[in-house]
Amino acid sequence: MKSNINIDAIIIDSVSHTYKTDTGLLPVLKKLNITIPKNGFTAVVGPSGCGKSTLTKLISGLLKPDNGHVYLNGEKVLGPKPIVGMAFQNPVLLEWRSIIKNVMLPLEIVPNNLSEIEKEERARSLLHLVGLEGFEEKKPSELSGGMRQRASLCRALVHKPEVLILDEPFGALDAFTREDLWQVMHKLRLEEPFTGVLITHDLRESIFLADEVVVLSGRPATNQHSLQTQKLKNPKLDSLFSDNSIEMLKNLRKQIEIAQVQQGEI
Ligand SMILES: Nc1ncnc2c1ncn2[C@@H]1O[C@H](COP(=O)(O)OP(=O)(O)OP(=O)(O)O)[C@@H](O)[C@H]1O
Ligand SMILES: [Mg+2]
Repeated sequence: MKSNINIDAIIIDSVSHTYKTDTGLLPVLKKLNITIPKNGFTAVVGPSGCGKSTLTKLISGLLKPDNGHVYLNGEKVLGPKPIVGMAFQNPVLLEWRSIIKNVMLPLEIVPNNLSEIEKEERARSLLHLVGLEGFEEKKPSELSGGMRQRASLCRALVHKPEVLILDEPFGALDAFTREDLWQVMHKLRLEEPFTGVLITHDLRESIFLADEVVVLSGRPATNQHSLQTQKLKNPKLDSLFSDNSIEMLKNLRKQIEIAQVQQGEI
């Protein structure tokens, strides 16, 4: 039920999920709880294969949990919803469409009242915001990997989703391009507020971008640890070298090691 003010945008309430495979049951998530306030941004880290991408599918309504519930803005998720935008490690852009037409794609699918001109203006302003002004008419193959990922972020945000789910969006990029995109993310968040879930293997990325970092245990994944970061509006990359950041990274590294050992034991 949708209730009043201050409702948490995302509630993952004691969610469990088991895949049925040819070789038997594979429990992946077990009684997982995560709450993200409106316009909050939470990073989820954990061992490879522990269930992070499964979690994104449960939040976006592509999968249903066996037990527990996912709520977006107080409403139980029963299937995919247009208030969710998603971006993945490999931006799947359509080669036969220009960059601007790729960004406009969700506006052709999600119901809205925008005219063609307004749709184009919306896409153009986002491309401008992420530094892709002048590349609107190019084909995806004419852009670098980092530029394609910028375009993919614009596409995920073009219909003004309230929730943005990012599954290792910068994982395929080199370190410097990745850091540039972290700053782009902060800019986007300031200009286009959304509630975010970021799946990442990069602990520096998690503390630089998120307000809270949730460490998942080994599979079946549940809450192992959670850490509040500094919540700066537009931090400088230098902040990653502060004593406080290094302390947070050491702490997270230790938690990941515990989860990896646990996953290996299963
Ligand atoms: N559709 C599916 N059917 C059966 N098993 C699946 C399915 N999707 C994922 N799995 C299994 O569930 C487990 C969790 O997968 P998931 O992709 O959620 O992990 P992950 O944490 O995102 O991993 P990574 O960090 O490597 O991306 C893995 O063992 C995977 O093989
Ligand atoms: Mg994954």
